[in-house]
Amino acid sequence: VERTFIALKPDGTQRGLLGDVIKRFEQKGYKLVAIKAIVPSRALAEKHYEDLKTRPFFKGLVSYMTSGAAPVIAMVWEGKDVIRQGRRLIGATNPLEAQPGTIRGDYCISVGRNIIHGSDSFESAEKEISLWFGKSEVYDWQYGNAEWLYADN
Ligand code: GTP
Ligand code: MG
Repeated sequence: VERTFIALKPDGTQRGLLGDVIKRFEQKGYKLVAIKAIVPSRALAEKHYEDLKTRPFFKGLVSYMTSGAAPVIAMVWEGKDVIRQGRRLIGATNPLEAQPGTIRGDYCISVGRNIIHGSDSFESAEKEISLWFGKSEVYDWQYGNAEWLYADN
């Protein structure tokens, strides 16, 4: 099975967008296997975005994620192609390029306040899930109606 790390950023939490984000992933057919509210430490946020550490906006990005004005809602979603599909549901990094119908396309304006994160590859998903969650916080469970979501082929 494939899993991805999705996080509602503090602006998304503050603006009351959690329900809609969950609804979109659920209605697509994905399964929530972990969720928690967390104010990340600076170390966690820096590690999470370590690939961007030389970028001019890095410091601001880390302060935004760690301010504590509202928690990050960290989640793990599971299902076929969920890494790529999660990125499609979220939309482009810059809300100006994000299509209407995507989460960023519908709910935000600024690239520096783009409300949600999603893993961009299998490797990042593995890294991020283990960074934000302990093994015992991620649940293995089966959808009773899985046969209605997936064909054999
Ligand atoms: P994430 O899902 O959050 O990782 O976004 P992404 O994969 O679509 O983009 P990327 O990993 O390149 O950038 C991570 C985050 O840094 C973005 O989601 C933005 O919050 C922030 N960011 C990226 N580019 C800019 C920028 O030019 N200015 C500012 N202020 N923030 C940026
Ligand atoms: Mg990214």
